[in-house]
Amino acid sequence: MTLSEKVGQMLQLDARGDLTDIVQRKLAGSILHTSPERMHEAIALARRTRLGIPLLTADDCIHGHSFWPGATIFPTQLAMAGSWDPDLVQRAARATAVEVAATGVHWTFSPVLCITRDLRWGRVGETFGEDPHLISELGAAMVRGYQGDGLTDPTAILACAKHFAGYSETQGGRDASEADLSRRKLTSWFLPPFERAVQEGCRTFMLGYQAIDGVPVTANGWLLDEVLKGEWGFRGTLVTDWDNVGRMVWEQKVCADDVEAATVAVRAGNDLVMTTPAFFEAAQEAVARGLLDEGQIDEAARRVLRLKLELGLFENPRPPDLERQRLVIGSAEHADLNLEVARRSLVLLTNDGSLPYAVGDGPRTVAVLGPNADDPQANLGDWAGASGQVDWMPDGHPREAVETVLDGLRAVVPGTWTVSHAGGAEIEMLVPDPDGPLFPDGQPRPPISAGAPVDPDQLAEAVATARAADLAVVVLGDTVALTGEGCSTATLELQGGQVALLDAVVDGLADTDIPVVVVLLHSKPNVLPPSALRAAAVVEAFSPGMRGGRAVAELVLGHIEPAGRLPVSVPRHVGQQPTYYNQVRGQHGHRYADLTQEPQFVFGEGLSYTTVEWSGLTLDATELTPEDIVRAEVTLTNTGQRTAYEVVQAYVTDIVTSVTWATKELKAFRRVIVPPGESVTASIEVPASACSIVDATSRRVVEPGEFELGVGPSSRDAALLRARFAITPVPTAN
Ligand code: IFM
Repeated sequence: MTLSEKVGQMLQLDARGDLTDIVQRKLAGSILHTSPERMHEAIALARRTRLGIPLLTADDCIHGHSFWPGATIFPTQLAMAGSWDPDLVQRAARATAVEVAATGVHWTFSPVLCITRDLRWGRVGETFGEDPHLISELGAAMVRGYQGDGLTDPTAILACAKHFAGYSETQGGRDASEADLSRRKLTSWFLPPFERAVQEGCRTFMLGYQAIDGVPVTANGWLLDEVLKGEWGFRGTLVTDWDNVGRMVWEQKVCADDVEAATVAVRAGNDLVMTTPAFFEAAQEAVARGLLDEGQIDEAARRVLRLKLELGLFENPRPPDLERQRLVIGSAEHADLNLEVARRSLVLLTNDGSLPYAVGDGPRTVAVLGPNADDPQANLGDWAGASGQVDWMPDGHPREAVETVLDGLRAVVPGTWTVSHAGGAEIEMLVPDPDGPLFPDGQPRPPISAGAPVDPDQLAEAVATARAADLAVVVLGDTVALTGEGCSTATLELQGGQVALLDAVVDGLADTDIPVVVVLLHSKPNVLPPSALRAAAVVEAFSPGMRGGRAVAELVLGHIEPAGRLPVSVPRHVGQQPTYYNQVRGQHGHRYADLTQEPQFVFGEGLSYTTVEWSGLTLDATELTPEDIVRAEVTLTNTGQRTAYEVVQAYVTDIVTSVTWATKELKAFRRVIVPPGESVTASIEVPASACSIVDATSRRVVEPGEFELGVGPSSRDAALLRARFAITPVPTAN
């Protein structure tokens, strides 16, 4: 291969550009964001290059095939994380892979393994929440689902662990801001989900945009080369994020020009350079000037070619397959699975007993209110081909493929019932910026909802609709204009006229016995107004996917049991950020003078329609070596009338550590189903090796000593049963 051919393999370019330039002049090895029509053209152009090396095609299919009309859009990662169910997540990823592979896309930029910290960050909804262990388990499941039984299987696609690493440690929640992280902190909490992805065989990694302690991740040889490729033995391919290499020149200004940036990026260990067209000339120039050794280009190109070999692209470039698309895209089987994922992911946050809304025979009226009651985009969330987001899907995913909460209730209520509807309010940004760019290429954001924050007539209509009903379901949240890349929020309040709407409905019904149920459809947690806490119930749905509205309706009417648990803490006030549960202890004076530090709802929390008593925690051993596993047993007794879908959560506290460490950390979890009136004894295992900390020298070690195991239904201290065990050093042979 010539130098230009090898450098070309290192390029991943935006397929919305001039394909002849991209594929035949710059010899790009990979393209992303390809429309259905242009896919065939790109493949044909690649075939006509000197070596005819097949293209690697990639897209952000992060909870379904975002860019394909009619594809199955599952709940977002944050919503799915509410299921605490790796098997379910794996099945959703498998279904996505089957659909994506049929469209000729070989690679999805998923899963996101960032840990949620500051909820103001726009990309919280793309994560699995705030806990490294939960993220590791669900991320590994997603990798298994995408990559299937092996890459030669035509339904397998490449997974991509992103954004490596520390990208979510923002300043003030602002996207891609510098991460103020020590190596120790990075190693302690941010890296473990990524290491787990390597162990799971994840073939590709994507970098974060940001710098850590002054060094852009793109230039961080320690992280990319020493840790990922060296220590962890990652043999896959590393791709930058969007124009990361160019950014080192025009944004971060740590390189004087493109040649220097190309040199720095290749030396640090990057293999594929996303959407920096100038890299093609710059990298060749760097070799010509002796700044780069051609062997370094060879190594990167080899990693890209190895992926193509593993996928068998040289024998079959895996073009779009119309027949398979017809069979699998949006299939009934995937729609069923989608409903199952949504059902298991909903989290019941409060309930005064009004839910399940099961009343005797006779007609009833359900009023469905709120700006997200009938907005399909509120179900789909970000990266879902929203109207205006994708040029070849001008209207977004077909309206009829999405079941909003209004649709769901209409479908689920008995035939004698009536469902009424009033929007009641608009969601509006506090600081409207409809021209804010989504990507650096200036592609505009969709316009935000128009209208005054509070319209008295709209409010009055909503209250009247609710008063004329027997049950009011108020669906609130955010919009895609308030979430995603480059779309962090300064506040966490429900925006626009939503608080006014809820206040009006809750207060307006205070003299009636009509229950008000709040359903939250949003990318990430909002701070709830007092009226939400006075409502009969609050259901957290996040962005529950195409079938989410149906799942919500089934939950409200008690056709299913609440099964989800929060993957993220919900604060009382934006000023509490960050509120994650596994804070480092020893923060003398950590209480605010004007507000408790306790979040409104804690990590792991979620109610059932029954009551469960937890008792009898026992351990099979209390003296362990670092190689042992402790097995805990706990008894769950269902004292209510309905089946309990509990998640047994095991948290470990290292009693004394050589450096300050987390108050407690989730180390294991499992779903347990307890029929009414029955007791189930559940066992859960925690390897002693997982009870590790990262010491002052940034090494992960198990420090011998005493540990406490807390087992229970959430991370709330008062809810945990506790037992102690000790880890002793392995005796050394002398
Ligand atoms: O995959 C994404 C990434 O998460 C953010 N920047 C753009 C990439 C490609 O679309």
